[in-house]
Amino acid sequence: TILPLIQIILLILERTVIGGNKTVLHGDSVILPCKLIDTTETLTQISWQRKTRGKPQLDSFFTVVPPDKQRYLNGNDNRFRFAGNASEMDGSLQLSNVTLLDEGTYSCIFTLFPTGDYKTDIPLTVIGIICAGLEETMANIKEENTLNSLTKNRRKR
Ligand SMILES: *[C@@H]1O[C@H](CO)[C@@H](O)[C@H](O)[C@H]1NC(C)=O
Ligand SMILES: *[C@@H]1O[C@H](CO)[C@@H](O)[C@H](O)[C@H]1NC(C)=O
Ligand SMILES: *[C@@H]1O[C@H](CO)[C@@H](O)[C@H](O)[C@H]1NC(C)=O
Repeated sequence: TILPLIQIILLILERTVIGGNKTVLHGDSVILPCKLIDTTETLTQISWQRKTRGKPQLDSFFTVVPPDKQRYLNGNDNRFRFAGNASEMDGSLQLSNVTLLDEGTYSCIFTLFPTGDYKTDIPLTVIGIICAGLEETMANIKEENTLNSLTKNRRKR
């Protein structure tokens, strides 16, 4: 019969966090998908971390405590909006007004009682078209300016 087969599939899928790679255009919005499949444990928290061009150090920036208590950490980047539902083990997050600095890896962590953390990484690629070259040029100009002022300071001595 089919029932044992379904049970086996559910067993394999148990506590798997579903994520995915995402690509988005500069200025658009994107949903960072994150869903925990089939657990009977108690969800105590969903937390989001990022490591991006703009935030190269691992940054915990958002948490959800069930049923729906949401909190920004380390500054309110309110371009992020919870798009999931903790009762359904859906931790998906929407990011709007995406910039090139948002490119990087996002991690979604489900904390379950009693077994602990289940994490998935969602790599985000941002396509910038013209802006890509422009930002790089601006960065180079800034660097040159810094170098110029350094040499100026040195000359003063
Ligand atoms: C996502 O991207 C990473 C590296 O960027 C790659 O290793 C992985 O295979 C990709 N996964 C999917 C599902 O495309
Ligand atoms: C996104 O950008 C638009 C236009 O600049 C602005 O009106 C809007 O408030 C921004 N949204 C967020 C969530 O920052
Ligand atoms: C979240 O999911 C629960 C259970 O399916 C449902 O009752 C509730 O209305 C959902 N909440 C939102 C905000 O959609």
